[in-house]
Amino acid sequence: MAKSSYSNPLGMVDILPDQTPSWRALEQIIHEEAAKFNFQEIRTPILEPTELIKRGVGQLTDIVTKEIFAFQKGDTHYVLRPELTAPVVRSFVQHHLDQRGGIQKLYYIGPMFRAERPQKGRQRQFHQFGLEIIGSADPVADIETITFMMGIYQRIGIKNFTLKLNSVGDPESRERYKHILRKYLEPHRSKLSELSQQRFDKNPMRILDSKELEDQEFIENAPIIQDCLNEDSVIHFEKVKRGLQLLNIPFLIDPYLVRGMDYYTRTAFELSSSDLGSQNALAGGGRYDLLVEEIGGKPTPAVGFAAGMERLLIVCEKLNISLTEKSVLDIYIVSLGEEARNWALSYLLELRSHGLSASMDYTGRSMKAQMKEANREHTCFTLIVGENELSNRAFILRDMNKSEEITISAKEVISTVLSHKSGQK
Ligand code: HAM
Repeated sequence: MAKSSYSNPLGMVDILPDQTPSWRALEQIIHEEAAKFNFQEIRTPILEPTELIKRGVGQLTDIVTKEIFAFQKGDTHYVLRPELTAPVVRSFVQHHLDQRGGIQKLYYIGPMFRAERPQKGRQRQFHQFGLEIIGSADPVADIETITFMMGIYQRIGIKNFTLKLNSVGDPESRERYKHILRKYLEPHRSKLSELSQQRFDKNPMRILDSKELEDQEFIENAPIIQDCLNEDSVIHFEKVKRGLQLLNIPFLIDPYLVRGMDYYTRTAFELSSSDLGSQNALAGGGRYDLLVEEIGGKPTPAVGFAAGMERLLIVCEKLNISLTEKSVLDIYIVSLGEEARNWALSYLLELRSHGLSASMDYTGRSMKAQMKEANREHTCFTLIVGENELSNRAFILRDMNKSEEITISAKEVISTVLSHKSGQK
């Protein structure tokens, strides 16, 4: 047989059967927490128009300049979605979700794609869960966004994190800041990285998000935006800080936090963990009051966040936190002979119709091999069925934990396994 020469694309991993239980448990936690906050789920396509992402995320961002997977089909240009804020806003505008009335509190779970250099905690296909609250300019929405985000980690038992907070102001404050920032950077312009030099005229605040080594000394001493915030932005920021203090959510002010997208206005935040390596951002988000209009809707304020699911699971592994209970099979049927196998097939359906998990051998192996398989499956009970058992309608039910066997009818099998299962809960 030819050896398979295929493997998964670089930075896009298979989530294998031993790992899917943790993923499902995490997804379940997210759905439950979202329900408590009265958020509703939204699902959008994996592909989006290239123009939407360029416009929404920003032409000069790393995501758009370096990281999007783009392709063309006919005359249409697509990208694999690198994030979900712009797509959710696209969907909000396209489907007039504002007409549903009230504030739209939307959450999502799904894969994103960024053509980054893969390393631990950084993949080309990764998963996020996140939330977008569309229609509220009130700091309460910012605080609820952060509270929801923190609540997930707290529920799981991840406590060792840092919440960094900043206000990137409104357009008026930002214009003032950009002017001061350019003035400060001007004498060093030729020493900046090539990318930062390109960003200097059009979007100097992007330089603050630069990861290039040569830019760092200039970023460290740059003027801070807080000194340029207008009164409205200051009041908003104060209310967000006050709300977090009231809820006992500790935070650090990071005046250089601008985040990787251009859509942010006012609040910006990032949650990082020392239990992660160099890719230490667990989650991030902020307010984006201009994006809905930018994408063609009416002026509508909004705020949200997204969190990396792989990174959350890396921290769980590091802290030995298990999200799952060991899954067990309720009953495994060991069947010997053609007639017994046929009977087992229909009896499996009956067991399952009572809500039990049930399985049998698919290969017609020996009794010994089937018992071995039952052990491997961590089954609670094994039902042994051969010709004699079938003709006598009396079956051997083995309690695998107690290593005890009883002979009972098919009906009694169901009640015994069911009462054992309910006793376990
Ligand atoms: P982001 O900071 O780009 O924000 O991504 C959020 C989280 O996704 C990061 O903190 C990180 O945990 C995870 N992440 C990002 N890139 C990768 C990667 N290559 N591999 C693994 N995990 C990764 C956003 O995406 C914004 N849309 C958040 C937002 C929502 N802002 C407002 N609403």
